[in-house]
Amino acid sequence: MRNYLSNLRPPTTLPAIRNWRARNIVLHTIGHLATGDAFPPLRKENGREGGIPRKVDFALKTRSVISSPSPVGRGWGGGFSARNCSLTSAILSLLLFLPAPSQAQTNIPNWYNPTHEAKIDQLLGQMTLEEKVGQMTLFTSDWDVTGPTIRKGYEADIETGRLGAIFNAHTADYNRRLQKIAVEETRLGIPLLFGYDVVHGYRTIFPIPLAEAGSFNPAAAEESARIAAREAAAAGLHWTFAPMVDISRDPRWGRVMEGSGEDVHLGNVMAAARVRGFQGDDLADPFTVLACAKHFAAYGAAQAGRDYHTVDVSERVLQDIYLPPFKAALDAGVATFMTSFNELDGVPASGNKHLLTEILRDDWGFMGFVVTDYTSINEMVDHGVVKDEAEAGLLSVTAGVDMDMQGAVFYNSLRKQVESGEVAMKLIDEAVRRVLRMKFALGLFDDPYRYSDVERQKANILTASHREAARRIARESMILLKNDKETLPLKKDLKRIAVIGSLANSGADMIGAWHADGRAEDAITLLTGLQEAVSKSTKIDFVNVDAVKESDRQGFDDALRAARAADITIIALGESWEMSGEAASVTDIGLPGVQDQLVEELHQMGKPFVAVLFNGRPLAVPELDKKAAAILEAWYPGTEAGHAVADLLFGDHAPSAKVPLTFPRSVGQIPIFYAAKNGGRPNNANDKYTSKYLNEENDPLYPFGYGLSYTTFSYGKPTISEAQINANGEATVSTTVTNTGKRAGTEVVQLYIRDLVGSVTRPVRELKAFQRLELTAGESKTVSFELTAEELSFYRRDMTFGPEVGEYQVFVGGDSRAEQSVILTFK
Ligand code: BGC
Repeated sequence: MRNYLSNLRPPTTLPAIRNWRARNIVLHTIGHLATGDAFPPLRKENGREGGIPRKVDFALKTRSVISSPSPVGRGWGGGFSARNCSLTSAILSLLLFLPAPSQAQTNIPNWYNPTHEAKIDQLLGQMTLEEKVGQMTLFTSDWDVTGPTIRKGYEADIETGRLGAIFNAHTADYNRRLQKIAVEETRLGIPLLFGYDVVHGYRTIFPIPLAEAGSFNPAAAEESARIAAREAAAAGLHWTFAPMVDISRDPRWGRVMEGSGEDVHLGNVMAAARVRGFQGDDLADPFTVLACAKHFAAYGAAQAGRDYHTVDVSERVLQDIYLPPFKAALDAGVATFMTSFNELDGVPASGNKHLLTEILRDDWGFMGFVVTDYTSINEMVDHGVVKDEAEAGLLSVTAGVDMDMQGAVFYNSLRKQVESGEVAMKLIDEAVRRVLRMKFALGLFDDPYRYSDVERQKANILTASHREAARRIARESMILLKNDKETLPLKKDLKRIAVIGSLANSGADMIGAWHADGRAEDAITLLTGLQEAVSKSTKIDFVNVDAVKESDRQGFDDALRAARAADITIIALGESWEMSGEAASVTDIGLPGVQDQLVEELHQMGKPFVAVLFNGRPLAVPELDKKAAAILEAWYPGTEAGHAVADLLFGDHAPSAKVPLTFPRSVGQIPIFYAAKNGGRPNNANDKYTSKYLNEENDPLYPFGYGLSYTTFSYGKPTISEAQINANGEATVSTTVTNTGKRAGTEVVQLYIRDLVGSVTRPVRELKAFQRLELTAGESKTVSFELTAEELSFYRRDMTFGPEVGEYQVFVGGDSRAEQSVILTFK
């Protein structure tokens, strides 16, 4: 039985808390040494010293160890750079008599450079108020449109110094032309910052982020982000509005395609990997860009899965579920944050001081800048928390926003508000400092055109090596959902293959939404991929039937005729690209159009067929699951789509990805996710008065973590090195995994915990670690995961963060239903 009194003790004994405090003091000191301010007191709130974080910074420290090579791409980005921070460390060690924090225990990002701060002071001293507000303003160019356009004439604003940043403008020469205006025609020549939504590639398009999360391979996410940054930076860009780190458990929401799915741990790992990928080790390297953790926060919890709708989550859920990936991004050194459109506890995020100041700056010590989402300041009028835009701007700037995206609210009102004394100049100076800090970190003051080299652009866009990486990562991101009687892999020398469905020959649908400068014509379609893979003697009959958007049987007869004559039929199903992404919520997550009908008619024929799904959200496809012999979830795979699908269908490689967001059986099960609570009346088939549906199972179609390969794996019983640990202890959980099939394969070994008795109810499973494991046929390997108090921690009843005394059940297996477990006791 757990001791509740000790449950409620704050975790003051954990070394992590000590380090966190040290770090927080460090941050306060550095910030104020740099600005010349007096050292401020740490905030006190709810009886807690301000230095104690809501979320202790050990979220990402699970280590996994494997007895053969290829450890998980875990790491701690954003540590001290010796060049930047040795001075500050030394000063602080002297000042505070504390050991300088190690690289793993600090939030001081590698882009923070004290020498830049002095230059910023100098610049601030020369700037007019209008120029300062200009640095807090971001407008879209007319090159691309990602929201309502409300302004023209941005070039004139650059010229007058009233605009410091532009988005949706790209290519080296175009951006050079705009930069030239800022640098050569304004009074102070402050360079512009160019941003764009480079979400899963710039020109070489990688799988959508949700798909990539399913690879459970952070090294792949880091690599695709690095390549995206390389191409974007070569095309004149300094800043990407990515990664999107919103946890979401509602596939009706079209934006699930942009994130890492439902899970906190997977979300943390992927967030950090992408930040490392985009930003590299040094922002001054002209092949890196600023990353932006968005949308802060809980945007993925929109009611009814309707984009832009109200969010209502408790502080506990906010802290336990929605904030950790942002904190992980911050710990990896992310340079910017973007606010979300939604409200939190009645206050829209773009005016939410609790979020933007108390959590982000005071608790987490964020030193980069915060940009709003598109016109989200203006939208606070519609939210009904302010009477007009000027008031919205006031709420926003005092809450902690540094830059207004496209709303022109700061542009229109901020100067007057400072002059009237409503807004303190100090607040403006701080915001401008944070923006300039990034322009310095990028090296734009040394050479404002360093990202605007046409030759470099030519040499770095859509290269063979980028395409090769896109193919490999796409392959690793596709999930084999079903494979009856080893239908797959197919032989390359079949006589006739029928390929059915317009999605099979559509480049646009391969690259999906948020494709930046990705082009349909660069994309390898499924049809092309198959044609290139098969033997010379194989005949492919393609029938371009559009069952996605059409509402009748047009083309069905041709499709059926081709299927009848074929050795195997491959049907491309799913959604067209614009059916997911922003402003693409749906109430029905089944196959759109008349695809179900086509599948049924194919099924009636009585011959096996293979379904390849292209889509941005999990689809509820229980009928397809019954009828298709094999189903490969390809998502929107990117530029190398067709090659990657063919690599898997013909068995040149084996599928290895797992489900990152639960596939429901029907929309009525939503929200459905593995880390649910048990409740007081868990489902019992023999008892009516338990939690279930009259007309549907409780279980999903495909659970989180699930995915097949062309071989099978078995798990030995897990063992644990220590049955009990304390705050400083560590237990190693090991299990032997065997490839029991005839082919090599990669398994994602997953470790989940369940806190059996908590001071608050705990999820029935929580993923805490995973490891991709390659095994040849018949081979066995032992995988070990180390567990510490960190993995057992959560927000306890009193909202302190830490582990609780008692038993935790630790499961190891190949998906979230893993059954074999051991008990770990925390004392
Ligand atoms: C989206 C953001 C995006 C921004 C700029 C907004 O509508 O919510 O994710 O970064 O537009 O394109």
